[in-house]
Amino acid sequence: MKKVLVTGGLGFIGSHTVVELQNEGFEVYIIDNLSNSKIEVLDKITSITGVKPSFFNIDLRDKAAVKDFFANNKVDGTIHFAAYKAVGESVQIPLEYYENNIGSLVYILQEMKANNLNNFIFSSSCTVYGQADELPITENAPVKPAESPYGNTKQIGEEIIKDATKISELKAIALRYFNPIGSHESAKIGELPIGVPQNLIPYVVQTAAGLRDELSVFGSDYNTPDGTAVRDYIHVVDIAKAHIVALKRLIEDNNKSQFEVFNLGTGQGNSVLEVIKSFEKVTGKKVNFKLVARREGDVTAAYADTNYANNELGWKTELSLDEALLSAWKWQETL
Ligand SMILES: NC(=O)c1ccc[n+]([C@@H]2O[C@H](COP(=O)([O-])OP(=O)(O)OC[C@H]3O[C@@H](n4cnc5c(N)ncnc54)[C@H](O)[C@@H]3O)[C@@H](O)[C@H]2O)c1
Repeated sequence: MKKVLVTGGLGFIGSHTVVELQNEGFEVYIIDNLSNSKIEVLDKITSITGVKPSFFNIDLRDKAAVKDFFANNKVDGTIHFAAYKAVGESVQIPLEYYENNIGSLVYILQEMKANNLNNFIFSSSCTVYGQADELPITENAPVKPAESPYGNTKQIGEEIIKDATKISELKAIALRYFNPIGSHESAKIGELPIGVPQNLIPYVVQTAAGLRDELSVFGSDYNTPDGTAVRDYIHVVDIAKAHIVALKRLIEDNNKSQFEVFNLGTGQGNSVLEVIKSFEKVTGKKVNFKLVARREGDVTAAYADTNYANNELGWKTELSLDEALLSAWKWQETL
């Protein structure tokens, strides 16, 4: 049985990935410090898969603890989700973001090197492309200056990993997520709301649930068919499955170079108004919204060119926007 470390494995994307890894027969070790997740998620994962993953309550900024973990656990691969992820907050407390997102990454890579562990998957983001000059966005699109310290941690993170592959046997894949949404079909795990949602879907769902009065749609004068911003919303379970494919690629030595990058998106762009309409259709719930001015830092449109990931990884999305929206609503109903 192959052993995998999943950092941030009790978080939104991490927990869904742990479920898929266990379904595929991997033995999973989770490291999470519960800074943005709850310990109950461990039982939820266990009830979905019938298997309890090994859990380590370690803060990855604790170099000695990271050293100790890797010295005692010879994992076949590491999937690194753990990070702070709130764009707005990262502007307020940038140093904490650099310490957590960069410091932890460096410690993990150092200890993997020290223990000759070579397979590494990194959570990156489509924000590295900024407003891309061409749509859909391929992996060859240039990386644009980051709009926030959070976005910068993803760009710097990729650079650090790339440099590490040059001086060791490390093999790494950075997966650039577009907009992960939705929940597991069991509605036992999902995205935990933190404060006022910055992302569209949690805000839509909370407005429909009556927790928020009204959704503000930022910008209705974009150069898009209905004037609202366009994004590529991808079901979190499809994202999770891509991690298993990427991990197997490294374990089986099928990678083409020591550092590879793949987009994880559906290839389909949807406007904010289209998402609201779809949500109302699949749930039968009304979403109060108003059109307001653009929000600083938002790009007009971003959606993935999926050809490279589809052909090279042999992975493609299976779940629709409607399915993702319905699952997000079912999760909200359990909260
Ligand atoms: N959700 C998105 O829209 C999105 C988009 C692009 C990229 N990403 C990236 O994907 C990854 C996972 O995102 P998510 O949405 O699941 O976030 P999340 O906050 O739900 O999960 C992150 C987990 O990491 C843990 N963690 C944070 N710092 C830690 C530390 N120092 N030590 C141990 N555990 C720590 C948290 O407790 C949490 O459980 C992150 O790296 C994020 O930046 C997310």
